Amino acid sequence: MELIDTHGRVATDLRVSLTDRCNLRCQYCMPAEGLEWMPTEEVLSDAELVRLIGIGVRRLGIRDVRFTGGEPLLRRGLASIIAATKELPGAPQTAITSNGMGLRHTAEALARAGLDRVNISLDTTDPETFHRITRRDRLQDVIDGLQAAKDAGLAPVKVNAVLLRGMNVDQAPDLLRWCMKHDYELRFIEQMPLDAQHGWSREAMVTAAETLELLSDHFVLEPLPGRGSAPAERFLIDGGPQTVGIIASVTRPFCGDCNRVRLTADGQVRNCLFAREESDLRTALRDGADDTEIARRWAAAMLTKLPGHGIDDPSFLQPTRPMSSIGG
Ligand code: 5AD
Ligand code: SF4
Repeated sequence: MELIDTHGRVATDLRVSLTDRCNLRCQYCMPAEGLEWMPTEEVLSDAELVRLIGIGVRRLGIRDVRFTGGEPLLRRGLASIIAATKELPGAPQTAITSNGMGLRHTAEALARAGLDRVNISLDTTDPETFHRITRRDRLQDVIDGLQAAKDAGLAPVKVNAVLLRGMNVDQAPDLLRWCMKHDYELRFIEQMPLDAQHGWSREAMVTAAETLELLSDHFVLEPLPGRGSAPAERFLIDGGPQTVGIIASVTRPFCGDCNRVRLTADGQVRNCLFAREESDLRTALRDGADDTEIARRWAAAMLTKLPGHGIDDPSFLQPTRPMSSIGG
């Protein structure tokens, strides 16, 4: 069996949200006061999660597993979940998308457990701007986390940045220079309508085209071919070898090449970041369904996957879950 949808796309890349909690409050994600967290009894245990990941890998063709949040480092069992994932047939590629806080203390152990790669969110290297965007004064923690990831061999270390008007747009060239200096691969992501406060607007969003233009005043950028199903369009900087990525999720969507499927911390399959429906695997799991039955439900969940997110469609509705409980 494979996770194929009615448009012929096959999902091989599983994104698992391990918790909806976070220790930052990024403007484009959460309100200052945080959110009402998921009830603990609804969150899957480590064993339940590993069982579902195992079904994805053994029976449904999953080859890549990325752990997200909220903040995945807040999940106590992270290292053992990674280790159990790595022991599955074919030893899937493992990665985390993290804000990097606390990674200084854990990067080494995670690498030993079998973590292959990290994507760390960092929108600025200016402490004041960092504080404004994340509402926490913790820039140094993230910088230390990035260094620890590199030292632990989790290369290439990727950095995700979102540009927000009136906050960090002017700092984009500095951020790129800083990432180049440390050999981190920077990618700019267009802001998507996924924040719990519904503060996104098309007009305020800094587009990929605008980002490229403003970087082009400082660097010679040469597009690289071969994007495949990777969302980032990559550019060689000043003749290379370093590159910068631009992820135009909104203005140049890559839905046609999507190979992803998502599992939330409370055991719901989402066939798209923007899906308005989920398929409940937790209830089946806790009611004693066997692997075959769970695999069948999971495969069926793919059949309602829409061809695209439709952000530009007048009838677009934001998903009812915010990004922090879906996972990036
Ligand atoms: N739009 C674009 N990117 C976002 N992220 C979080 N919220 C949004 C949003 N509304 C980013 C984070 C992280 C990854 C999970 O997605 O910065 O890098
Ligand atoms: Fe936390 Fe990531 Fe949301 Fe920022 S974007 S508040 S780091 S979950």
